[in-house]
Amino acid sequence: MYEICPETAEDEYEVEALYDLCFAPGRTALSSYRLREGVPRVADLCLVLRDSAGIMLAAIRFWPVRVGGRRSLLLGPIAVHPTAQGEGLGGILMRDSLLRARATGWDRVLLVGDAPYYSRFGFARLDNVEMPPPTNPDRVLGLELREGAWRGISGPVTRDAPPERPGGLVERGAASHIQMACQELPHPRGARNEHESAAGAASDQRSDGP
Ligand SMILES: CC(C)(COP(=O)(O)OP(=O)(O)OC[C@H]1O[C@@H](n2cnc3c(N)ncnc32)[C@H](O)[C@@H]1OP(=O)(O)O)[C@@H](O)C(=O)NCCC(=O)NCCS
Repeated sequence: MYEICPETAEDEYEVEALYDLCFAPGRTALSSYRLREGVPRVADLCLVLRDSAGIMLAAIRFWPVRVGGRRSLLLGPIAVHPTAQGEGLGGILMRDSLLRARATGWDRVLLVGDAPYYSRFGFARLDNVEMPPPTNPDRVLGLELREGAWRGISGPVTRDAPPERPGGLVERGAASHIQMACQELPHPRGARNEHESAAGAASDQRSDGP
């Protein structure tokens, strides 16, 4: 069995370690990170997935951004531990977090990534939306959580203003009491050998980052 839970402060170190393992060194130098700096994450949507031994196998985070002045979600980073990739866990986190995003009132989401992977969740190239350079425009992808939510929206993606209230870098939505629940789920592609889990995994399967 697996458990998906909203990320907590106690998860922070493990999530960062998982991202360091899965992405190329220097991931935080990517231009998308400039949109995240000093901006609270959308905590309701940041999820971690652990196996029955409590080992973190996957994580996904979201930040708010502005596109053409409209508040939008920036999806990512998402990462699955190299020993568990290709087993459907990334798909689970994508679908679960997008359901939560819709349920908590978000209208649109964008990401920078590989269209061949993200198109299966409904993402398509956003022609008139510009991520900070250098970003390949073919990798700027969007999904409407409400019909027509990307229609007529164009321009540069900019940082969302940090809230004026004090607190950490985590924003919880009004519906957080509903969204905070953890959920258990069976392995998506049948029984998995627990002995193949994260411990001692190779770190040579890195990607170019979110
Ligand atoms: C990309 C990632 C999150 C996908 O998660 P996952 O659990 O491995 O993926 P799933 O098991 O849900 O889906 C596997 C399928 O996606 C495909 N896939 C995975 N990464 C892909 C990519 N970059 N481009 C195209 N297809 C991809 C696999 O070929 C497989 O296809 P199939 O279903 O036809 O066999 C994960 O592989 C990962 O963490 N990679 C390293 C970090 C990364 O690149 N993150 C995304 C940054 S934008």
